[in-house]
Amino acid sequence: MTKYIVHGGKPLFGEVEISGAKNAAVAIIPAAILVDGVCRIENIPQISDVTAILKILEQLGASIRSINRHTVEIDSRHIHTTRTSYELSRKLRASYYLIGALLGRFGRAEVAMPGGCNFGGVRPIDQHVKGFSALGAGVTTEGGYINAIVESGRLTGANIYLDVVSVGATMNIMMAAVLADGTTTIENAAKEPHIVDLANFLISCGAQIEGHGSSTIRIKGVSSLRGTEYAIMADRIEAGTFLVAAGITGGELLLKNCPFTELESVIAKLESMGLAIEQRPEGVLARYQGVLRGADVKTRPYPGFPTDMQAQIMALMCLAEGSSMVEESIFENRFMHVLELVRMGADIKISGHTAMVRGVSRLTGAPVMASDLRASASLVLAGLAARGTPHVQRIYHLDRGYERIENKLNAVGA
Ligand code: EPZ
Repeated sequence: MTKYIVHGGKPLFGEVEISGAKNAAVAIIPAAILVDGVCRIENIPQISDVTAILKILEQLGASIRSINRHTVEIDSRHIHTTRTSYELSRKLRASYYLIGALLGRFGRAEVAMPGGCNFGGVRPIDQHVKGFSALGAGVTTEGGYINAIVESGRLTGANIYLDVVSVGATMNIMMAAVLADGTTTIENAAKEPHIVDLANFLISCGAQIEGHGSSTIRIKGVSSLRGTEYAIMADRIEAGTFLVAAGITGGELLLKNCPFTELESVIAKLESMGLAIEQRPEGVLARYQGVLRGADVKTRPYPGFPTDMQAQIMALMCLAEGSSMVEESIFENRFMHVLELVRMGADIKISGHTAMVRGVSRLTGAPVMASDLRASASLVLAGLAARGTPHVQRIYHLDRGYERIENKLNAVGA
């Protein structure tokens, strides 16, 4: 399926089930490589990034038993190589987690340079490499592969200070350190909820980790990890996307299995724009209340406003009264959705890392091109509110991070 045809202008009403968190799943699944036993992982989102990472584990020799659509059992005891297939791992940003997991378990890893969303410029992994080197590995790149090897076969605990608050580097170094000889400290660590989820998964396997969710994480290396059963947390970014969908279509949605505290910054911003959002026993209820007001947003590391919600809330701002200012402080170029929103009639000007949005009375359908995961979500949201029928092309980006989003939207009246 290459494009969506969105018939906009209809308020959405009903219930949406939030799936497991993409950015937790694409780290916890590779982390099973570290475990000397069977890991039963539940609440896995059915998205293409997860399918890809499971395929890579299988290609390495792990056995994957699919129990149902959202549950797999992974047994990594028979992995026979530490070199990933170029084809499979080059497309995926999260393939860099395979380096930390393979290096931590086997003392070596050869993984194709990561791919993934084409925003934010080069998307370096220098902080990941800094961590692996501090733990005793030699890291080189050749022929499109990153090769990390520790001669002794086992990493040694170290104190690592991240120059950049990096989610990926924090999780990758944590994975490498759990089986290292000695204690590792990660200073200036990222605090995202899915980092806590990964730590909790590893702890359930017998890892000794503390401080996860704070800026200083301490990991005491153990000799091996045992099998476990673990359910992945709900996806706060998918949830945030549906909160915006309720507001932008003038409807009301009840989100089941929806995180609340992890969405504090997003909920506060959406309430300031005029949405009513409340926690009910059966889920989180989001309701349009007749007006949308502009607001200012600056993306920040957790618990600040998440960069992964920037494109989505900008779509809402396009139809809000007054103007809004969006500053993207995490990635150097995450405004790929702006030009496409302008094609639909939005009034947005960019200067450097800041976009100035002036609300318009309506958006109109137009053929638009998705460029990355959250930009695609932003275009679908704008399409749901637009007059006329926009076509959103290259929607394979959406399938990377949203489980059957078209079914979920159609089920509530889209
Ligand atoms: C993760 O990307 C997520 N990807 C992204 O989710 C998310 O946008 C991002 O975290 C921020 O929350 C996965 O989990 C697979 P970072 P990551 O390392 O790890 C710079 C989505 O939409 N940096 O926290 O790449 C980097 O360039 C996707 O779900 C370095 O300079 O993000 C950026 O400016 C997109 N050196 C900043 O740090 C490094 O070694 C934050 O990047 C690593 C990162």
